[in-house]
Amino acid sequence: MNSPVSLPLFQSRVVPVIVVTDPAQAVPMAEALLAGGVDVMEITLRSAAGLAAIEAVARAVPEMQVGAGTVTRASEVAQVLAAGARFGLSPGSTPELLAAVLAAGLPFVPGVASPSEAMAARAARFTLMKCFPAAQLGGVEVLKAWGGPLPDLRFCPTGGVSLANMGSFLALPNVAMVGGSWLTPAAAVKAGDWAQITRLAREATDAVAALQASR
Ligand code: 3PG
Repeated sequence: MNSPVSLPLFQSRVVPVIVVTDPAQAVPMAEALLAGGVDVMEITLRSAAGLAAIEAVARAVPEMQVGAGTVTRASEVAQVLAAGARFGLSPGSTPELLAAVLAAGLPFVPGVASPSEAMAARAARFTLMKCFPAAQLGGVEVLKAWGGPLPDLRFCPTGGVSLANMGSFLALPNVAMVGGSWLTPAAAVKAGDWAQITRLAREATDAVAALQASR
């Protein structure tokens, strides 16, 4: 990966997209995901608890590669680094945001929804991008189409990805990993049903392994 920042830092090809409402949920969730073979979390800044949750995981679960998601403003870059995020992701990208992550040296996955946006991110030296919202944009067919003129770029489709369709995304040569919220359902998190989260993570990890073995 020749991005200015080297990604992936993690083994998992499935990235859980997480909204925490209470920072105390973060550490048991991290442990539950690890128990299911998922060593990465995208904890989003969509809730006020996001930064504290990142900090808790970074401190207590060092084997988890904790990233900050929904980083949409340049001013958030210093905050997520201070919290201990090892990388960041965004649903989009602006020149200000990309300049801030490059200046800070934060490994980063900018979001793109068109070839022009992907080319702008590539011009800023990023080669791994989040394709968002993947299913709503047209899913697998869109990524297949982008692979023709932009074969050097790699994508993490997110938005509408699930256990049922992740295999068709991961089978594409330009898809490095997929992201989604299905691994950490809000009801399970609220109930503290960590066994369910381990089960969902294991199911996804096993599906990725089966896909790789069938190649
Ligand atoms: C994201 O920000 O990546 C998405 O909101 C996750 O989309 P999903 O809920 O459809 O998985």
